Amino acid sequence: MRAALRAAAGHADAWLAGLAERPVRPAHGAAEVLARLDGRLPAGPSDPVAVVDALVEAVGGGLTATGSPRFFGYVVGGTLPAALAADLLAVVWDQNAALASLSPAASAAEAVAGRWVAELLGLPSGVSVGFTTGTQMAHVTALAAARQRVLADAGWDVAADGLTGAPPVRVLAGADRHATVDAALRLLGFGTRTIVEVATDALGRMRPDALRTALTATAATQRPTIVVAQAGEINTGAFDPLAEICALAHVHGAWVHVDGAFGLWAKVSASAPRRALVAGAELADSWATDGHKWLNVPYDCGIALVADRTAHRRAMSASADYFVLDSAGQLDPVDWTPEFSRRARALAVYAALRSLGRSGLRDLVDRCCDLADDAATRLAALPGVTVLNATGDRGSPGPLVALNQVLIRVDDPSPAVDRAHDPRPAAGPAARGDLLTRRVTAAVTAGGEAYVTGTVWRGRAAMRLSVSNWATTRREIDRAVAAIADAVAGPARPPRPRDADPHPGGVPL
Ligand SMILES: Cc1ncc(COP(=O)(O)O)c(C=O)c1O
Repeated sequence: MRAALRAAAGHADAWLAGLAERPVRPAHGAAEVLARLDGRLPAGPSDPVAVVDALVEAVGGGLTATGSPRFFGYVVGGTLPAALAADLLAVVWDQNAALASLSPAASAAEAVAGRWVAELLGLPSGVSVGFTTGTQMAHVTALAAARQRVLADAGWDVAADGLTGAPPVRVLAGADRHATVDAALRLLGFGTRTIVEVATDALGRMRPDALRTALTATAATQRPTIVVAQAGEINTGAFDPLAEICALAHVHGAWVHVDGAFGLWAKVSASAPRRALVAGAELADSWATDGHKWLNVPYDCGIALVADRTAHRRAMSASADYFVLDSAGQLDPVDWTPEFSRRARALAVYAALRSLGRSGLRDLVDRCCDLADDAATRLAALPGVTVLNATGDRGSPGPLVALNQVLIRVDDPSPAVDRAHDPRPAAGPAARGDLLTRRVTAAVTAGGEAYVTGTVWRGRAAMRLSVSNWATTRREIDRAVAAIADAVAGPARPPRPRDADPHPGGVPL
């Protein structure tokens, strides 16, 4: 055991030592790694150290440096040293976090870390907390509690009687909600076709007037209602007006769930305008967020928080004669998550919060936002580049982007000249901008200097940067901006007809 661990520690050390400087993208694609890893199922045992070494040899080229301070794709945090070490110990200790009797350590860590997270996010004291794999399962957890409560208020116990024959539940959600909301609703028996889409504005924020109209229609039939709001849109970082949404929804007896995978952490900012983005979140009924994004704990870690402990427990808890339950009925994690057996994730959350403290977390969040704003401001000065999620203007003293997300598009700065070289009749300026934006995105990530990802915003191709890593500094932003500037300058030449759009279906990287 110890020899295998020493081998793993050596590989871990080498990985971490090179993390800041190695190319961010993987050297090999999945098919190549598969070819290296694949083979016959071994007929018999092998030496553990040899297994670890062979595994590293086979998969090493397929590792993405997601913990690199130059990783700006999706929304992915790094790993704080204390959190990484605590997570390693959680695995070494092999704790099963289901029951307090099975792992008093895991249960106690969940209790403390959960309370600290709720306090930092400014949520009501006494919320119940479940530690999940990510926001996806935090949605499932919280929305199951929502389903339980709104149906109970309509005289139906869904935990006992199921959905068949239950009063229909109406779910309202913004048109720019995250895909995981739909997946969670589907898992809970709400067909995605039944979601009432509430119109959003140019930045993706739910429009209160549209919500009011939808809720009024709901009230006419007195249907149990759940409203799903968002704190931090994946592309723009924009926040729904949470205070207004909660007030409107509660007048109609609706449950409000907030998807705050990364955005809820704006609450800890030292900047009043950033904190204002999340104002009113505390009025909601449930919240989903991640540990593995802005809190910088290792994958995986999501957090579900619910104001109605009774509904939460009724929706989640499991019981059996062989369970040795907490005598006070408060400390068994199985009451708050869909799983029974699971990892002791909260140890890493505890370690992250203890190592940062309130001021360290505040600095992490504000540093990421300031760096994102710096990147946005410099990218906006490149030829043909537009910052699509700008909330300020470049002449004003305030920030250009509101949070830690940057959404840009690259258009052809000299379309008249280029069009003369491009014989394709259908390649209008918008289509050329789509092509250029995707080419620049692909070129930056392929270069290894920075990892960025693409998206489609309002029907047009765009590139996203998310600054969410504690280790990112101005130096890494300089490198990313330089890589993007090079790519903008390079592929900006007129595309030849044989150059295919690398992502013709609009699917980024
Ligand atoms: C707003 C939002 N909601 C939900 C999710 C899904 O989170 P997870 O990947 O932890 O399930 C994300 C991930 O980026 C997100 O940004």
